[in-house]
Amino acid sequence: MPHRQGIAPDLEPLGSLERTHYCGEIRERHIGAEATLMGWVHRKRDLGGLLFLHLRDRTGVSQIVFNVETQPMAHAKAETLRNEYVIAVRGRIVHRSEDTYNPNLATGKVELVAEDVRVLNVALTPPFQLDEEDSASVGEDTRLKYRYLDLRRPQMQRNVQLRHAITAAVRTSLSDQGFLEIETPFMTRSTPEGARDFLVPSRIQPGTMYALPQSPQIFKQLLMVAGYDRYFQVVRCFRDEDLRADRQPEFTQIDLEMSFAREDSVLEVVERLIHGVCQAAGVSPPSLPLRRMSYGKALQRYGSDKPDLRLPPMAVVTDLIAPGDLPLGGPLVAIRIPRVGHLTRREREQFRAPAAELGLRIFDDFRGLSRKLPQEMAAVRERLGAEDGDFIVLVTGLAVPSGPRPDQTVLESAGTINRRIAHGFADRHGLLDDNDLRFLWVTDFPMFEWDSDQASWSPAHHPFTSPHADDVGKLETDPGACRSKAYDLVLNGVELGSGSIRIHRQDIQSRVFEAIGFTPEEARHRFGFFLEALQYGTPPHGGIALGLDRLIMLLAGETTIRDVIPFPKTARGTDLMCQAPNTVPARNLTELGIALRVSPRPSKA
Ligand code: AMO
Repeated sequence: MPHRQGIAPDLEPLGSLERTHYCGEIRERHIGAEATLMGWVHRKRDLGGLLFLHLRDRTGVSQIVFNVETQPMAHAKAETLRNEYVIAVRGRIVHRSEDTYNPNLATGKVELVAEDVRVLNVALTPPFQLDEEDSASVGEDTRLKYRYLDLRRPQMQRNVQLRHAITAAVRTSLSDQGFLEIETPFMTRSTPEGARDFLVPSRIQPGTMYALPQSPQIFKQLLMVAGYDRYFQVVRCFRDEDLRADRQPEFTQIDLEMSFAREDSVLEVVERLIHGVCQAAGVSPPSLPLRRMSYGKALQRYGSDKPDLRLPPMAVVTDLIAPGDLPLGGPLVAIRIPRVGHLTRREREQFRAPAAELGLRIFDDFRGLSRKLPQEMAAVRERLGAEDGDFIVLVTGLAVPSGPRPDQTVLESAGTINRRIAHGFADRHGLLDDNDLRFLWVTDFPMFEWDSDQASWSPAHHPFTSPHADDVGKLETDPGACRSKAYDLVLNGVELGSGSIRIHRQDIQSRVFEAIGFTPEEARHRFGFFLEALQYGTPPHGGIALGLDRLIMLLAGETTIRDVIPFPKTARGTDLMCQAPNTVPARNLTELGIALRVSPRPSKA
């Protein structure tokens, strides 16, 4: 039964009472001290003459004892307490008898013997248990609707505090490395990062819109033009795109930019930053320098531009098979899943349909293949470095691929099926350990990607990325062969960050706009102010942005960024607690000069 509001006679003011300790702080060194704790009733156990209470605040939980014989008034009040009531309690810290130590609590060797208690506020019965370590039993929608209660749970307390520690370490590291934190506007023009913009209509200039920034990319480059030399910002970005476990419509970047910088200079700054962040997060920092791999190698070995180095690489084995021995559609790729042992036909079959959906032919009966082509398969095993008990499959395209980079599709699909099989048998090979953090720089990306819908080249990163010095001449003649000075930071298969050395010359920037199909008028219309700025003494510069939410997610061992963002949105972009997005009164739309053609439907998560 929820407690009815309004029966307030029990409520008492805080008055001049002052907290002396946080609940999670008290230890044996405090024994004998008088203490006043304040917080939420976490749990109550009434044994008649003795009443035990767990009192919780953001630091943890302390046990409070109320004794009817020594403090009858306090004990009587404690009997009226219920979970989540807010109280202040004064008493003396004592040692617990050894047989009542609680090894699950940092405060488990001591307790507070209550002398006085004040009930500061009552609470309704929460819709879910707040003392559960594991959130699996509570539906996420309920957690998000009552996020202020969910945030009281130990898991969320830990994650939000970790977020603070990491953000503070970011600021310290970058300030120590000579970066200035500078804010850039939220109400601005579109910044192309491959998503749709969230638009904000202007009342004063009806019919016009601000765009919320997808990133501060243009502003940080303008700060380099302005001579600020090293900029950073822990900054909210907004992107209207399909959401996933590691994507939110508003998320936070650690954004930085530096002048007179080579690629290595940027990478070194970030490596020092990662070192500091890991230390602050209580995670053992990776040894530096971090490993690097070119995009081409990443694609060949992992079928991905974000390899998960916890898994063994794939191998292209087309050259080991004589033409005609196996039906090939593009490259033949061998995949090894270690220590999985022999898979039953049924186990193998579960990957056939997904492989076909990815456009792959899969040869999963390696024993059969080894009987048919013994020498060839021995060579495949050797190239993979296979050991007894490893599961090996070969894949190739269903048809010979076409397009400007034909092998890429097959390799990417092979990478996807590799990850699926590896994740499917993670409990058998045990390689996907959250505590095994494998950072990797991926470098030497191609400058452009072929967009088959638009039948044109589009930037592989964003259009401000510099082409490789040797490839500038190919911008017009062979865009597909142009490499860029872009780099990504990857952690365990997740893209943590992305950056590049930028174009600092106006003529090259104009050529890149042209290569991606902008007419000079379009380029002037969208980026005229930027092209103009580049002509006023722009230093060579480069930078990167790391996804703060993803970094915290991985360091916290979580699988979704929603668990490290205090107030996230659902996969449909809804804030279930305050019900945003929301309809607005007609008069607000009129003021903005907006008429709706579609009446909005009430939003569902
Ligand atoms: P990019 O678009 O790759 O680069 O973004 C950088 C990093 O931001 C994180 N990220 C996201 N995190 C959560 N939800 C999202 N919707 C989301 N989108 C991106 C990722 C990603 O690696 N201006 C460039 C950076 C630069 O060149 O300096 C940029 O924004 O971790």
